[in-house]
Amino acid sequence: MSADWWRQAVVYQVYPRSFADGNADGIGDLAGLLDRIDHLVELGVDAVWLSPFYPSALADGGYDVDDYCDVDPRIGTLAEFDALVARLHEAGLRLIVDIVPNHSSDRHAWFVEALASPPGSPARDRYVFRDGVGPDGDQPPSDWEAMFGGSAWQPVGDGQFYLHLFAPEQPDFNWDNPEVRQEFLRVLTFWADRGVDGFRIDVAHALAKDLSEPLPSHAEVEQLLDGHSPLWDRDEVHDIYAEWRELFDRYDPPRIAIAEAWVPAHRRPRYASADGLGQAFNFDLLETDFEAGRFREIVTTNLALAAESGSSSTWVLSNHDVVRHPTRYGLPALATDEPTPPSAGVRHQNGRNWLNSGAPADQLDLTRGLRRARAATLFMLALPGSAYLYQGEELGLFEVADIPDEARQDPTFFRNAGVDVGRDGCRVPLPWTPDGSSYGFGDDGAHLPQPDWFGRLSVAGQVGDADSTLELYRAALTLRREWQTAESLEWLTPPEPVEWTLAFRRPNGWTCLTNFGADPVALPAGTVMISSQPITGDEVPGETTVWLHD
Ligand code: NOJ
Ligand code: CA
Repeated sequence: MSADWWRQAVVYQVYPRSFADGNADGIGDLAGLLDRIDHLVELGVDAVWLSPFYPSALADGGYDVDDYCDVDPRIGTLAEFDALVARLHEAGLRLIVDIVPNHSSDRHAWFVEALASPPGSPARDRYVFRDGVGPDGDQPPSDWEAMFGGSAWQPVGDGQFYLHLFAPEQPDFNWDNPEVRQEFLRVLTFWADRGVDGFRIDVAHALAKDLSEPLPSHAEVEQLLDGHSPLWDRDEVHDIYAEWRELFDRYDPPRIAIAEAWVPAHRRPRYASADGLGQAFNFDLLETDFEAGRFREIVTTNLALAAESGSSSTWVLSNHDVVRHPTRYGLPALATDEPTPPSAGVRHQNGRNWLNSGAPADQLDLTRGLRRARAATLFMLALPGSAYLYQGEELGLFEVADIPDEARQDPTFFRNAGVDVGRDGCRVPLPWTPDGSSYGFGDDGAHLPQPDWFGRLSVAGQVGDADSTLELYRAALTLRREWQTAESLEWLTPPEPVEWTLAFRRPNGWTCLTNFGADPVALPAGTVMISSQPITGDEVPGETTVWLHD
């Protein structure tokens, strides 16, 4: 097996509780996944990234891990996990698992022990405990806010507080503690020995922290960048990954890793370097409107960053944390007098807020959203580097906007009531059949309610329909395999008007043209391989991508 298999791989993210339910309890599981491997093979992906499947109270969709070396009994068993590795490998697919090293769950044996142990004890030192402050010592050590809202410090009733950058059920580990370091080497070895090919590292930029006193204020922390924050993206984090790299390189082929690190672009190459994790997510496309100038700038910047790190670039349009891209692209354009968002995080945030605001449904243009999504997908799949797909995007699924409050699960919703609707709308169990119980997801309902339009977008409802999004993905992935070439591209002068078209050519003559505008543009010379909308005559319709070769 080539050690470079990951460089231009298409990786399909499985959010296991919502993929397929094999035992009729409404929760997706490994049995369901084992049963649907054919779908992934027919789709033509190279690898699966499995989101957390560990025992968990699901305070944060499984990103609150009780035990890093086991499978949640609701999801399956270690024996089924081994069967999954074997079946994927037999089918020529690799497996990447999610590792959550910044925090455990509050039910992890170490945290239970820490709570039962006195302040200052070795058990507490595995996490970040601090004495309360103020005249009565009952105030949190700082005004830091958690990512899901509220204070980042939780009191434990004996004068101490623990740090949680996410939900209170997710206490942060103290990575200065050698036992924590040892434990994760054990965890990585446990899965690598079971045949796992790689790891997706959750919040990879937060492990190293500097909690020396006095602690800066929340507002100060927000301003401290480029290694100066006490919490985020500290240079010392790379010492941890250098140690992991030694471990990964002991395997043949070496295990791979990809950092989920929300850091400024110029800080990404260190995470992606060959003596570190090896690859890092670039979420730039996922955070950007469907706009030619921005797409070009993002591609240029990220290819340069990939070259700087020696890694390949990564491309993502959707994942389990953001509004699905066919919905995002159908949102009303920001009014021109609205200030440009400082970062597109705001844009996807806007997407969620917009969905949450009860704004009139007729402002959301889903037909246009899907049309742009198909064009953006073909654009992404022609780029050099690896592409990460999120389950259901091959069906053109939209965000489910109307989940009743009582059915919601995401802590983002509960901790920001009325402000942020949360991420459940992209985590609704997949539709496999046009009708039937939970649209073929399982035989006894789905843990998040599916809307009635789900059947129309089901796998069985699309197979064989040449115009469907599923068949577009399948055909595109087949062609991508056939035409994959060296990791570079050359920008071409696109047809007029150049402001809203982008064209690039890969070294073997594989050419991609995207018309971001509403009106048609001229079809360049060459043989059409595939297009996101039907091409008639010699024009590329609006909001369409076409692949050609000489
Ligand atoms: C990033 C994950 O993608 C997200 O789902 C999770 O809530 C946070 N990390 C905390 O683990
Ligand atoms: Ca189940």
